[in-house]
Amino acid sequence: MRSELPYILVLYYSRSGATADMARQIAKGVESIPGIEARLRTVPPVSPVSEAVAPEIPEQGAVYVDHDDLRHASGLALGSPTRFGNMASPVKYFLDTTSSLWLNGAMIDKPACAFTSTASLHGGQETTLVSMLLPLLHHGMVYAGIPYSETALLETQGGGTPYGASHLAGPRSDRPVDEHERALCVAQGKRMARLGLALAAMREAR
Ligand SMILES: Cc1cc2nc3c(=O)[nH]c(=O)nc-3n(C[C@H](O)[C@H](O)[C@H](O)COP(=O)(O)O)c2cc1C
Repeated sequence: MRSELPYILVLYYSRSGATADMARQIAKGVESIPGIEARLRTVPPVSPVSEAVAPEIPEQGAVYVDHDDLRHASGLALGSPTRFGNMASPVKYFLDTTSSLWLNGAMIDKPACAFTSTASLHGGQETTLVSMLLPLLHHGMVYAGIPYSETALLETQGGGTPYGASHLAGPRSDRPVDEHERALCVAQGKRMARLGLALAAMREAR
């Protein structure tokens, strides 16, 4: 039976597991705040064969997202590996199917954040996060980064930016999410949970 609690949708794409690991840490942060849950969902890969249809259940990872997951969410944490300094096409492809939500203003005044993983430290974490912010602003969402009161932002030797959580996977994609990167994922999840509850109260009071 599905819970009636409000939830933050933690929606990601991941091919080799790093962004999926970050998503689980963000979900942990969300669930550490009473009164709200995390809902982990992924997007199907895209295929060069335009008529290809994804199976209902992915081979691994979270269940595929649908528009209702987004419509009823109290906030969105959106994760993508960096692809040439930008979000991966499956994430963009899914966002491009959300115009009915945009038309209805379903995401207006809900909090949003982004997270990413890269192979190289200067390989585009910030540009990817900023590229992910753009469609979320078009949806009227309230974008939340990570404030420098999170000291891991100053201490990290890997990922972690004020634009959102990030992770350095290394050239062989085998560097685990380290202590500072994990702390920032959890902090981002907590912040989304608090903002999700606060903005839901604000929308109800209107
Ligand atoms: C097509 C493609 C483009 C990529 N572009 C970049 C890039 O611009 N900068 C970078 O540092 N890593 C890049 N990578 C590496 C991935 O971002 C990195 O391996 C990431 O950790 C994968 O996340 P995942 O484990 O969630 O799939 C690219 C990988 C692929 C397959």
